[in-house]
Amino acid sequence: MQNDLMEKIVSLAKRRGFVFPGSEIYGGLANSWDYGPLGVELKRNIMEAWWQRFVTSRGDMVGIDAAIIMNPKVWEASGHLESFTDPLVECKQCHNRFRADQIDVKKACPNCGNKDTFTESRNFNLMFKTFLGAADDAKSVAYLRGELAQAMFVDFKSVQETSRKRIPFGIAQQGKCFRNEITPGNFIFRTREFTLMEFEYFIHPDEWEKHFEYWLGEMKAWLAFCGVSEKNLVFHDIEDGERAHYSKRTVDIEYQYPFGQKELYGLAYRTDYDLKRHMDFSGADLQYLDPVTNQKYVPHVIEPSFGLDRTALVVLLEAYREEEVPTSKEGETATRTVLKLPIALAPYKVAVLPLSKKPELSDVAQKIAADLRTRWSCDYDETQSIGRRYRRQDEIGTPFCITVDFDSLNDQSVTVRDRDTLKQERIAITELNSYLTEKITKA
Ligand code: GAP
Repeated sequence: MQNDLMEKIVSLAKRRGFVFPGSEIYGGLANSWDYGPLGVELKRNIMEAWWQRFVTSRGDMVGIDAAIIMNPKVWEASGHLESFTDPLVECKQCHNRFRADQIDVKKACPNCGNKDTFTESRNFNLMFKTFLGAADDAKSVAYLRGELAQAMFVDFKSVQETSRKRIPFGIAQQGKCFRNEITPGNFIFRTREFTLMEFEYFIHPDEWEKHFEYWLGEMKAWLAFCGVSEKNLVFHDIEDGERAHYSKRTVDIEYQYPFGQKELYGLAYRTDYDLKRHMDFSGADLQYLDPVTNQKYVPHVIEPSFGLDRTALVVLLEAYREEEVPTSKEGETATRTVLKLPIALAPYKVAVLPLSKKPELSDVAQKIAADLRTRWSCDYDETQSIGRRYRRQDEIGTPFCITVDFDSLNDQSVTVRDRDTLKQERIAITELNSYLTEKITKA
């Protein structure tokens, strides 16, 4: 099951409109993916739940939405132009390039099978270079951001002064980042453009361990909310010498993907490295004056970092089930594929399925769907047999299906089917809103 789980997820994602290969009609572009109608809903639901949990529901967090292209000096100061590198080797035979830390260079080339063909390892910078304006000379070089964090450091003073937050407090952001990865792959796991959700939590240096542990706990709680079971997670304290150039402690939250145990999220103690570097390079004073103690200091930073695409991938992997369920024929069962997504993340919360296309049924069903859409994302489907329609909704993770049948015209009631228990309940149309509100908000 594990081995082909990725294939099943990639196939379902394409077939049902979660994720398509990018630029497909031109033969695609390796490792680029487009989120389709259901994928974009899943993605937005994750982003909104994250923002609500870590920003709007808290008094100690504010957000920003900064420009993707920043002054190139930012990346010089942050150390990215010098140190944001991966070790690269090239096979002299087939000219394929690999990350030296991901293959055994003493063994044969994984692509052409020749031995002793690798070049010496060299550091390859992951920053995406571009040019501003009409000239493509050295003076107009700029970079697409490789991480979100730098804007939170560069804007620290403006955010702190305008929001009047006192330390400890955090600045959060969500958005696209770009890295010229040597070996992208494994579907949406590693791509050259991806969406990050992260925050910088500014603290007094004496308190870093306390805050570090707190945020590790909050990251675990978020993963539980996303339906990720703890048995598939590994908390890996990164050893000295292996951490990013700015970090004094890093815990990688790793996940047991079907293709191996790899990073899902990161939690780093970035010390005052970034703010100090920006003070040195810009001349700005980024110190904080504590209004109670009158102490002036450069704040330290704890950074929880969440890749959105990896979140979407693990949410799909965890939700995917193949179950034997009884059919309408006595004693027979059939396999159903179902995404048991957390309700908050499901692309559609509800689907309305009239038993037949007859106008008297579709009129009632359309009215119900229009009313439900004022509150929740709601699908409507009146083609094919009801069994096939249920299977489709199961496969896309819709928690509730509402069938409108001929009895509905007399008793003003509908049948609500629960995705997970398969239980069906008869509910009066006038009660539908309160029934679903209770189920959806309680989840
Ligand atoms: N600001 C800290 C930072 O960027 P990182 O570990 O380099 O740290 C953070 O990246 C997260 O971004 C990772 O934990 C992962 O979830 C996600 N990520 C990193 N590179 C990625 C890529 N090429 N494709 C998709 N997600 C990626």
